[in-house]
Amino acid sequence: MKKILIVSGHPDLNDSFANKTILEETKHLLPEAEFAYLDKLYPDFHIDVKAEQERLLRADIIVLQYPLFWYSAPSLLHRWVEQTFTHGFSHGSTGDKLKGKQIVLSFTSGAPEDMYRYDGPQHYPIDDFLPAYKQMADLCGLQWCGYIYSGGLSYASRHDEAELARMKAKAVRHAHLLVEKLKGMA
Ligand SMILES: Cc1cc2nc3c(=O)[nH]c(=O)nc-3n(C[C@H](O)[C@H](O)[C@H](O)COP(=O)(O)O)c2cc1C
Repeated sequence: MKKILIVSGHPDLNDSFANKTILEETKHLLPEAEFAYLDKLYPDFHIDVKAEQERLLRADIIVLQYPLFWYSAPSLLHRWVEQTFTHGFSHGSTGDKLKGKQIVLSFTSGAPEDMYRYDGPQHYPIDDFLPAYKQMADLCGLQWCGYIYSGGLSYASRHDEAELARMKAKAVRHAHLLVEKLKGMA
């Protein structure tokens, strides 16, 4: 069985609905996976590089779980990558520690999926926001294994009971799709 690491990049899971639900359901379905909650570990953004590199070394499959913030990952997750994926570790002529591992993105957005198209209000399909992650994987010798994405999980809908129920069902479904994908890889 491959070792799965799930890195949560939400900046505050106490203030999350979708990512919190996805993480709870994924943990329930996949208790053997390792979970790293960056908001709990690094509320001050001071990443323990050695601990995080060791965490990466233990994993065969790395999942980045996050809400889309300004069409990218939240700054906390981005900082984790900046600090942890160092020259000589993940890339560079001697940096081969991530080589052969697999990477999966798992993310949510406020705007619904059908807004992410060339003729829609978000102007680009969601895939068009991912080349930087794909190239990061390639540079580090990580195998790009795609993503699980759910849209329409808006902060603004949290006070509407019917919307909350819809978002809950969608987040739970997201977790099931993610686990199904991971089990297919493991
Ligand atoms: C700072 C910030 C930036 C955001 N940027 C986007 C965005 O670029 N596109 C989008 O569809 N939603 C965006 N959203 C909405 C979040 O993606 C959405 O609220 C989140 O996926 C819901 O997950 P949560 O309940 O776990 O917080 C943004 C929200 C915040 C707070």
